[in-house]
Amino acid sequence: MKYYMLFTLLMALTGCKETPRQHRTPSGLSNDTMVRAEVPHPGKRIMEQECYICHDPKITRARRIAPPMESIKRHYIDVGTTKDEFTKALIRWVNDPRTESKMLGAHAKFGPMPYMPNPDDAVTQIADYLYDNEIDRPKEFDLYFAMAHPNGVGEGECECFDDLALEKEYAAIGLAHAMAAQAELGRNLKKAIQEEGTVGAIQFCNTEASKLTDSISVMRNAIVERVSDKPRNPDNQANAEELAYLESFKPKLSSKNDIEPVVQIEDKGVRVYYPITTNALCLQCHGKPDKQVRPETLSVLKYLYPKDKAVGYNVDEIRGLWSVDFNAND
Ligand code: HEC
Ligand code: HEC
Repeated sequence: MKYYMLFTLLMALTGCKETPRQHRTPSGLSNDTMVRAEVPHPGKRIMEQECYICHDPKITRARRIAPPMESIKRHYIDVGTTKDEFTKALIRWVNDPRTESKMLGAHAKFGPMPYMPNPDDAVTQIADYLYDNEIDRPKEFDLYFAMAHPNGVGEGECECFDDLALEKEYAAIGLAHAMAAQAELGRNLKKAIQEEGTVGAIQFCNTEASKLTDSISVMRNAIVERVSDKPRNPDNQANAEELAYLESFKPKLSSKNDIEPVVQIEDKGVRVYYPITTNALCLQCHGKPDKQVRPETLSVLKYLYPKDKAVGYNVDEIRGLWSVDFNAND
């Protein structure tokens, strides 16, 4: 009974039966929703065809080449902006994208928008659609937008801020995973050397090292791996991308600059790379054959790893890379 009354009331309020179904600016929201459901707004179609090549909210952050349309909307429509003003501003921009930008951050980050001829009435339709409707926005958009514009939109803003903040956060997470694995490996390796000598400790590296990184991976819900350009175990061969990062770390290491992890934000998740460097302890198994690596160690290594490339290192060299993969939303 109650529901029936509510239903009749709603029908009366929205005037669903009485109003002819034509397009008009929404005053009663539910009515507008019904109209929209039946006749897609022409501005939506034009926008998706002409503008979403670059402004599509579905383009991921890593592949973005222009600000998402929702961001444009928020820079162009303020509390007091009328539809007419917004329409004029949009037409002015589309007709001449070299005119004064309202989105300096986006302009700096993505470069200029190329000029593409779009008739004014098409842009008027887009403006009409944008002004009256909620549009799709990228995942987590509200959060990043707030981070990028702590003082609201306007002068001095920087659309790049959100990326930097996010990358730093991911770098810290990835590095923490890698360092946890490194600490655990180091601790166990030292213990094995103390208790069983170098040759005995090879056994630890051979059977336990990868198990240990695997268990850290499970514990931390990430994929934590050690890879190398000159691997001892062929399973640890770095792929092309990892090789490129590994090379890029080498000059940084020799110039003693602070090394920052490399962060890659991808569709599937986040990848963080950080170099693994040698110290004196490593050389008994990774140093110069017959000098730091004693013959008895070398023969065991050769037996276990006939294709061993991981010798000949000195201290403070890049032995490999931590490659950490995790889900950005965890
Ligand atoms: C080929 C890629 C591309 C297409 C297609 C495109 N844009 Fe853009 N647009 C950009 C880039 C890049 C920027 C950032 C440059 C800037 O803001 O100066 C931008 C920025 C904008 C801005 C913000 C301008 C400002 O104040 O800085 C508006 C408004 C805009 N686009 C509207 C549109 C509309 C409407 C369409 C469709 C009719 C469209 N764009 C199609 C690339 C594109
Ligand atoms: C007791 C000998 C020994 C010592 C000491 C040692 N390693 Fe290794 N290392 C190995 C063995 C054996 C492997 C192969 C592990 C496997 O099969 O997964 C290995 C593998 C690695 C790998 C993985 C890539 C590859 O080559 O397969 C890295 C990275 C690495 N070691 C770095 C170091 C660093 C850095 C140190 C010093 C802190 C060090 N190791 C000390 C024996 C040793």
